[in-house]
Amino acid sequence: MATDLLEMYPRPGARVPLAGLYLAHDLRARTPGPYVCSNFIVSLDGRIALPDPHSGLQQVPPVIANPRDWRLYLEIAAQADVLLTTARHLRALAANRHTDLLAVAAEPELRAWRLARGLPPGPAVAAVSETLDFPSAALDNLPASLLVVTSSAAPHARERALVSRGATVRRLPGAGLDGAALLAALGEAGHRVVYSIAGPRILHALCAARVLHRLYVTHALALLGGNDFVPLLRGPLLEPPVRARLVSGYLDAAATAAGVTQYFAVYELNYAA
Ligand SMILES: NC(=O)c1ccc[n+]([C@@H]2O[C@H](COP(=O)([O-])OP(=O)(O)OC[C@H]3O[C@@H](n4cnc5c(N)ncnc54)[C@H](OP(=O)(O)O)[C@@H]3O)[C@@H](O)[C@H]2O)c1
Repeated sequence: MATDLLEMYPRPGARVPLAGLYLAHDLRARTPGPYVCSNFIVSLDGRIALPDPHSGLQQVPPVIANPRDWRLYLEIAAQADVLLTTARHLRALAANRHTDLLAVAAEPELRAWRLARGLPPGPAVAAVSETLDFPSAALDNLPASLLVVTSSAAPHARERALVSRGATVRRLPGAGLDGAALLAALGEAGHRVVYSIAGPRILHALCAARVLHRLYVTHALALLGGNDFVPLLRGPLLEPPVRARLVSGYLDAAATAAGVTQYFAVYELNYAA
């Protein structure tokens, strides 16, 4: 079928359907301990976001965002205990620029997949925020009570306001975001399978702490340009570098509305010295 994917690795030439591709990864069975993955769509020139021409806010470039990538994004989300996101995302949610945190529970097939495994209809949500500067109204658009992980310097008045709206706020010690402490906080809240849908700083925190297991990357085969550059990863040099092993790769020749093809790559991260 024209809409099937062409497998490039590990079985070059095989044709595979898109629907069910990432659900079959069965992430919940991977380890008895914490399992952490993240996912990005990135242009060929390395951009994950561009400024919206009207608001100036950074967003996934609309020319590469597409329903086929979104389907696979949701298949990962369906397997998670918790979606890990950011205050930036919650600000967008409060302004009705996003509804994606409810999307798994709203998709009948994925909802049924979770219910059949004794999971709640959708994953929980945790957000990192250094400032706690997001409207409490964001909580109205979330599936269940929100866990907020913040720094020791966050304003106490904001913390009280969030707690009074039903959120749980965890302060991590020290400056900067420690990925290991973040993961521990998620674990204490009962979350084992973590899906980070946050951006380049959180990816860096997870990589620096060497706690990310798997990275899904959709390579959108288009050069976008633009003077603002938002890369996949932002933060100090990772030493030693985090090495990745290609687990599988699929070419999706079914064009997006803008005629962009894409390559779905799955990487396992290797922290051995
Ligand atoms: N193409 C893709 O697949 C993709 C995927 C994800 C994101 N993106 C894009 O990437 C861009 C950045 O995303 P993002 O802002 O969500 O992610 P990010 O850059 O990874 O993280 C920024 C967030 O981290 C919080 N933070 C920083 N230091 C912290 C600390 N010490 N403790 C707790 N929280 C801390 C900040 O909170 P405060 O706001 O409170 O300071 C901020 O909201 C966006 O434009 C987004 O659209 C693209």
